[in-house]
Amino acid sequence: MLTLVTGARGQLGRSIKCLVKQKNISNSFVFATRDQLDLTDLNNIQDYFKNYKFDLIINCAAYTSVDSAELDKKKADKVNHLAVKKIAEIAQSNNIKLIHISTDFVFDGLKGQPYQECDIASPLSVYGKTKLAGENAILSIMHFNAIIIRTSWVYSEYGNNFVNTILRLIKKGNDLNIVSDQIGTPTYANDLALAILSIIKSDKFNRDKQDSEIYHYSNKGECNWHDFAKEIINISGSNCILNSIKTEDYPTIAKRPKNTLMSKNKISKEFGLKINFWKASLKICMTKLSVATISNED
Ligand SMILES: NC(=O)c1ccc[n+]([C@@H]2O[C@H](COP(=O)([O-])OP(=O)(O)OC[C@H]3O[C@@H](n4cnc5c(N)ncnc54)[C@H](OP(=O)(O)O)[C@@H]3O)[C@@H](O)[C@H]2O)c1
Repeated sequence: MLTLVTGARGQLGRSIKCLVKQKNISNSFVFATRDQLDLTDLNNIQDYFKNYKFDLIINCAAYTSVDSAELDKKKADKVNHLAVKKIAEIAQSNNIKLIHISTDFVFDGLKGQPYQECDIASPLSVYGKTKLAGENAILSIMHFNAIIIRTSWVYSEYGNNFVNTILRLIKKGNDLNIVSDQIGTPTYANDLALAILSIIKSDKFNRDKQDSEIYHYSNKGECNWHDFAKEIINISGSNCILNSIKTEDYPTIAKRPKNTLMSKNKISKEFGLKINFWKASLKICMTKLSVATISNED
């Protein structure tokens, strides 16, 4: 079984790569970075697949900068929609299974209860709209053998994310002003990577002609960004000052949904996944980060 993981330098791509190294997984993996597979070039995508005979694609690559997407709609649409459509066409015509990662930002955040997979998507931002267009392209091309996993507030030991940003600001000694009126659930990329590896081992996933489906995955529990920052500060042992502000006090180019809690019942039931609470996973990630910092200082 040969599996392609796109976005190999991103948070999720790196987390999957790290787990594949640690665990004894019988599948063979090809991890493609943007240099090897540039999703802005549709011909390049077509050519890339001529060199391999993949059984599965895990598409972790995406245009993920929510604010930049408002100013660069064309590029965001190419990566999050047109490239995804091309990948789905290639998967469909070569009998390749597809796991594609999408986002809670497909919702407008007005529901007031956790979103189910069947709820109507109504994105507020270019990022959300292009990701939804990618989802729709997959579902119209692949009636079978595709899984779309919507996730939220992803962080990890790698790259730019909320945890690393807060830790950097704490080190600088800044007071922090963090919004407290956007609710959701953080997702530790390592947990999502583990969930994906469990799914690809499952009997359900390996059946022929499995209906294509959308699933939601984040850690368990709920919080706002201020709660998230507070927990990072607590775990780090810092005594920095944290203030709660409203979305209006922190204007951003892209509009963010106010409440994107997602129900994880479907994914946990159908694939027997045990989902960790966000605070427990945050602690694990931060322990790994501090071990990495200490060993870098040695
Ligand atoms: N981060 C979040 O908070 C969040 C929330 C909800 C959903 N998601 C979704 O979860 C998935 C994984 O996110 P992540 O946090 O791992 O994102 P990430 O760290 O930003 O990684 C995205 C990856 O996509 C690659 N990429 C961007 N443009 C590309 C292009 N034109 N061609 C090829 N590769 C390209 C990037 O390559 P470079 O490394 O070369 O830049 C990067 O490795 C994405 O589908 C994202 O939409 C993320």
